Amino acid sequence: MYKLVLAGVSALFMAAAACAQPNQTMNSTQPNPRILVACFSATGTTARIAEKVAAATGGTLYAITPAEPYTAADLDWTDKRSRSSREMNDPKARPEIGGEKIDMTRYEVIFVGYPIWWDLAPRIVETFLDRYDLGGKTVIPFATSGGSGISNSAAALKKAYPQAAWRPGRLLNRAGDAEVRAWVEQVLKVEN
Ligand SMILES: Cc1cc2nc3c(=O)[nH]c(=O)nc-3n(C[C@H](O)[C@H](O)[C@H](O)COP(=O)(O)O)c2cc1C
Repeated sequence: MYKLVLAGVSALFMAAAACAQPNQTMNSTQPNPRILVACFSATGTTARIAEKVAAATGGTLYAITPAEPYTAADLDWTDKRSRSSREMNDPKARPEIGGEKIDMTRYEVIFVGYPIWWDLAPRIVETFLDRYDLGGKTVIPFATSGGSGISNSAAALKKAYPQAAWRPGRLLNRAGDAEVRAWVEQVLKVEN
């Protein structure tokens, strides 16, 4: 009887180990030194998605950090005079980025994540894209929003930076690991 229980337990254990394998594969994406996952996130939502994109691609995560952080008042879109409203009202606004520049020559594929602001990418995303030579780079946008789609912001970025090879973007509101992974695999397949 004791042996029978032991056999049962070890069978269960082996089944559990077999089930765990796909996950182990999923979590063990090799680092990919040619992929950068750059992200601006004012309140953390897009940053959480960017972590999933980095995990799924093996890319290097880079936070686009404003030199002057956005306060809650800055983000008040109901106030026409708030910092975000003024920036979004001015197509030439380029809020300063804090920190070091990165060595963009190392990367071939750049995922760019952002929250949708006024149906566009926040201006600081353009500060980021202005900083580097995007010639020959593949750029893939992703975003989170309160409901707006990504089409308008992605089209505007593509128009402003025609030197990059743009891939279709994806709105990843509340996306789980599996959805992010499936999208990343599909969009990189188009790339190769
Ligand atoms: C200034 C501002 C403007 C926004 N404009 C839009 C918009 O046009 N459409 C929309 O669906 N959500 C809009 N949102 C909501 C954000 O896109 C959404 O909350 C996003 O997930 C926040 O991401 P984050 O936490 O990475 O900053 C706006 C938010 C802010 C702060």
